[in-house]
Amino acid sequence: MGQLDGRCVFITGAGGVLGSTYVRRMLEDGARVIATDLAGSQADALVAAHGENKRFLFHELDVSDEAAIEGIFQTVMADGWSPNVVLNNAAITGEMLMGKGKSFPDFADTSVEDFERTLRTNLTGAFMIARQMDRDIVGKYPATLINVASMYALNGAHHGIYEGMPFKNFSAYGVTKAGIHGLTVWLAGYWAGRQATVNTIAPGAVFNDHSEEFQARVSELIMANRMAQPDEIADVMLFLASEAAGYMTGQLVNVDGGFSAW
Ligand SMILES: NC(=O)c1ccc[n+]([C@@H]2O[C@H](COP(=O)([O-])OP(=O)(O)OC[C@H]3O[C@@H](n4cnc5c(N)ncnc54)[C@H](O)[C@@H]3O)[C@@H](O)[C@H]2O)c1
Repeated sequence: MGQLDGRCVFITGAGGVLGSTYVRRMLEDGARVIATDLAGSQADALVAAHGENKRFLFHELDVSDEAAIEGIFQTVMADGWSPNVVLNNAAITGEMLMGKGKSFPDFADTSVEDFERTLRTNLTGAFMIARQMDRDIVGKYPATLINVASMYALNGAHHGIYEGMPFKNFSAYGVTKAGIHGLTVWLAGYWAGRQATVNTIAPGAVFNDHSEEFQARVSELIMANRMAQPDEIADVMLFLASEAAGYMTGQLVNVDGGFSAW
């Protein structure tokens, strides 16, 4: 028996560093997984890895696209996939911008358009997924929503560690990650009594081929004295997605090697 037998997980931004790890681990643990992401090489890699698995389905989905979100659950349900775990994982991240050869401008040069583009994906996108879950799933059968924040949700960034690095921590990122926990606690109360729970996971610094210099700088801020492996975040994500987390709602779970406790 897998920890996720009977779970049907819907995940956004599934092709990224953490998303692809969650998909692999959830399939290994018995879940059916509806993976969604923007079209591109990461989505292609996900389909190449799992496309043959009968418990895996891929749908292209841009979480900033309101019309696309409005039809997404109905579409998968019509094919017999009824999600009972929804994972708001998609985000514009420093990693993503770095992969595209882009960096966020300095704070003084950040345009309203730049700022709002991140809000639209990271926060409004999560709201629209949650709203659609409310319309199509909540109250019909038991379900859980997991929102993804960050160690930079409720803690300020140590900007010095990004000095000279090809990426930096940008203002809209922390703002959206704090906001997403606001969505969690608001919804937890709103869904009370309707067999729907909602929690936030706040991952710490996840290793993804960072330079030794960056690893050394960030590790000094972490009690575990090292960056996390994606599977270490997945260990906790799988628990939150499982029935074993059924008595948790409205909670923020830090998986950051102690970063937030210092
Ligand atoms: N990696 C870390 O160190 C870390 C730490 C804390 C929190 N997080 C959070 O974990 C989540 C996953 O992060 P990751 O490290 O895998 O990042 P990543 O950049 O590797 O993946 C992000 C994914 O989101 C997708 N995405 C971006 N815009 C989208 C849109 N408009 N619609 C649909 N998908 C979109 C991207 O295509 C990508 O697959 C994010 O919410 C991130 O903020 C990551």
